[in-house]
Amino acid sequence: MTQLVVRRLLIDLQPAIAARWNGGDAFRTAFFNALSMSFPVGEQYFIDSVRNALKALPAAQRERFADEVQGFIGQEATHRRIHALFNGHLAAQGLPNDIERRALRRLQANAQRDVRVHLAATAATEHFTAIFASWLLRHPEALEGAEPRLRTLWLWHAAEESEHRSTAFDVYQALSGDHAWRIRLFRYVSVIFLWDLTRQTVINLWHDGSLLRFGTWRSGWRLLLARDGMFRASFGGWRDYFARDFHPSQHDAAPGRAWLREHAAQYAVVGTPVGA
Ligand SMILES: [Fe+2]
Ligand SMILES: [Fe+2]
Repeated sequence: MTQLVVRRLLIDLQPAIAARWNGGDAFRTAFFNALSMSFPVGEQYFIDSVRNALKALPAAQRERFADEVQGFIGQEATHRRIHALFNGHLAAQGLPNDIERRALRRLQANAQRDVRVHLAATAATEHFTAIFASWLLRHPEALEGAEPRLRTLWLWHAAEESEHRSTAFDVYQALSGDHAWRIRLFRYVSVIFLWDLTRQTVINLWHDGSLLRFGTWRSGWRLLLARDGMFRASFGGWRDYFARDFHPSQHDAAPGRAWLREHAAQYAVVGTPVGA
């Protein structure tokens, strides 16, 4: 059982965001913007999937997970709200949110599927966010030169993703535990998520006018594919999900815990500790 608290970030997101807020770097800005654009719809989906799954659990299991799920929902709802504010600035800059439109269309087309399928998709996506979050906490230079409030926003989100990395997975194991479906949905989510993220990054770069510049893609290589880059360094963690005996807790969450400990002045705890 993971104890999850809800934290309110003490940053002001009202003032506008610079077009290249991430250290003046076009690629790093476009990529993080694409991620943020996918969050509100994605996080609402995780909330709905886990809430519906909790209702479908037998009473004893429901009781076991109730507090943790409440904390999970609180954290994701906070992320959704704050990234919607962030995305409002991107919309004001004229960036079209294609990734959200595509996700909404997919959700509509799959609305009738079983609660276990949605939960497997949620656990799969949560694994992605957890390995990317873990990478970001270990490589904060990806946010080098970013405004302090935005750096705080991304690292706080990463720390909480790392903290609640087991919740959807554990509820899935309790409700279904079917390995084949877990893997099927992970493959599906991997392809869709990476394709959509790439598309939205390209759209953002096009809008920025830097899509066809060599320096843009040199920065992209460094961020994602170089030896210590996000995609390359996360590959092992991605592959771990296929193991029959995989559990998210096998991945170290110490950097997230350390960040929360060292930056306690930047947030207020609004929910009482649950699961205690
Ligand atoms: Fe989140
Ligand atoms: Fe999450």
